[in-house]
Amino acid sequence: MSSEDPYLKALELAKRRGIFYQSSEIYGGVGGFIDYGPNGARLKANLIDEWRRIFVNSLPDLVYEVETPIIVPEAVLKASGHVDNFTDLVTQCSKCGRVYRVDHMLEELGIDTSGKSTEELSSTLARLDGCPVCGGKLNQAESYNLLFRTSIGPYSSLVGYLRPETAQGIFPMFRRIYEVTREKEAFGIAQVGRVGRNEISPRGGDIRLREFTQMELEFFFDPELRSSPLFSRLANERLNLRRDSGNAQPVSMTGKAAVSSGLISNEWLAAAMIMGKQFLIRLGIPEESHYYLEVPADKRAHYSKQTWDLMARLANDNWTEVAGLSYRGDFDLKAHAHASGVDLRAFKRLDTPIVKQEKRFKWDPVRIREKYGPMTGEVIKSLSDMSEDDILRAISAGYFEVNGQRIDTSMFSVEDVSKAESGVHYYMHVAEGSFGADRLMHVMLAHALTQREGRAVLAIPRYLANPQVGVLPLMKKDGLDLTARDLVSGLVRARLAPTYDDEGAIGRRYARLDEVGVPVAVTVDYQTLEDSTVTLRDRDTWEQVRVRLSDLPEKLRQFIYEGAQLRELGERAASPAKD
Ligand code: GAP
Repeated sequence: MSSEDPYLKALELAKRRGIFYQSSEIYGGVGGFIDYGPNGARLKANLIDEWRRIFVNSLPDLVYEVETPIIVPEAVLKASGHVDNFTDLVTQCSKCGRVYRVDHMLEELGIDTSGKSTEELSSTLARLDGCPVCGGKLNQAESYNLLFRTSIGPYSSLVGYLRPETAQGIFPMFRRIYEVTREKEAFGIAQVGRVGRNEISPRGGDIRLREFTQMELEFFFDPELRSSPLFSRLANERLNLRRDSGNAQPVSMTGKAAVSSGLISNEWLAAAMIMGKQFLIRLGIPEESHYYLEVPADKRAHYSKQTWDLMARLANDNWTEVAGLSYRGDFDLKAHAHASGVDLRAFKRLDTPIVKQEKRFKWDPVRIREKYGPMTGEVIKSLSDMSEDDILRAISAGYFEVNGQRIDTSMFSVEDVSKAESGVHYYMHVAEGSFGADRLMHVMLAHALTQREGRAVLAIPRYLANPQVGVLPLMKKDGLDLTARDLVSGLVRARLAPTYDDEGAIGRRYARLDEVGVPVAVTVDYQTLEDSTVTLRDRDTWEQVRVRLSDLPEKLRQFIYEGAQLRELGERAASPAKD
């Protein structure tokens, strides 16, 4: 391998073994798009399923998963603020026309951009030596919108965008889910899907793609509700929290301490953060390789009141943000309610109804008709349109005017009444966990890649691997291959994911399986034909045991899903051929 950097090695392996690689490769490819190949697509699906298991399936009747289109009409993203605010600052070289993202360019030169205005950044740019490529003068910093724009149908006036976050499919459907949940005071909506961001300069180092998969969960909750039943189960778990992006080390504290000290703004956000940590551990990324970094106010998205980025180690000092956990307050529901005109408030029934004093106005239509005859309709309409203040003013003056004619108010009466309200309307608040599946694939692979006797072994957690079992006949003859193929069919029927390989020496085949992370190999040899046993070989220890064919599906399940050690599953076996 050409590089010693574990992350670059993982990228090299991913390409060589068809896990993922540049998209549209045969045309030279375009930055920011990747394909997942035969050894990658199912692995990514399993990573997503693991997220789903933690954030959706393990929270029945609390979290509901939905699926919405990737193209959204302009009105949605106008309301959400993305059309106006989903921007990065760029500068263009006046000579060669290259465009640079300002914060990346300055930060690479060691210049801190935090809290700087566009004007300040423009004057910093003017003091630089010019374009890094041609030395040309850099233009003033200006906003660049990251939305991919399209038109819907044949009418160019109907503008749509690729959604930049799956969340913008969730907020507009809030009302429906709220009703389906029978108006719960807290619940979550989750969505997994593709999103698009027209990034300025996608860079391999921090895995910036232009199209990628997000796994998002929005917890909706009553902000006055003091405690989250979900958090109470998780509160004693520890989190690594870091408040500034300088040299300070993350501090470990329980979720409970972080919320009670005000460090994390609410229990729902803290619960999502704890589940995020658990998820990364399930991906095989150890606790010392991730922490939460608080995003300073001037770097937060426009909707956020507080954001913690989940940072994970790719290699050595190379960390990347794999998830953003934000307290979005009532920003989104209010914005969509105002823009659509639909009431997106929740209703809270009160233990003791609120009693309000109100004035009730009455008028006598018979007397109005007697006195104003054909004008009656107009008089009553004017009365109905009048505000409470207008009516009170008219009563104290003794008249009001309709079409210039004075109308006497003696036929009105006003009385004070008490009205009991059984509840109040309010906007639910949102705590969000937004995870990037592609970045997590990169980090997971970088952590899984190990070396054993100079060979690459992809030690991804067994329960995530796909394929799960390599089936290898020792020889491609004497019926060993036929038995092995029957075994593959049996494993498929047992809902496992096998792969068959009879090409080349057995040691080479083991090596190929190790490199793509297949956790266990089953070898069919001559002894199989005699006593219906096979060998199982562990990817990580290279240990081998002998197991009866009839017990195989159950033993494989124990090995893959229950973490059984190979030696617990059968008699230690001599290797059928040298590795
Ligand atoms: N709804 C909130 C939201 O979208 P974000 O921090 O912009 O928040 C969440 O994105 C996650 O999506 C990031 O933490 C990252 O894992 C992933 N992500 C964002 N931009 C990405 C990009 N250009 N390429 C790959 N993944 C990206």
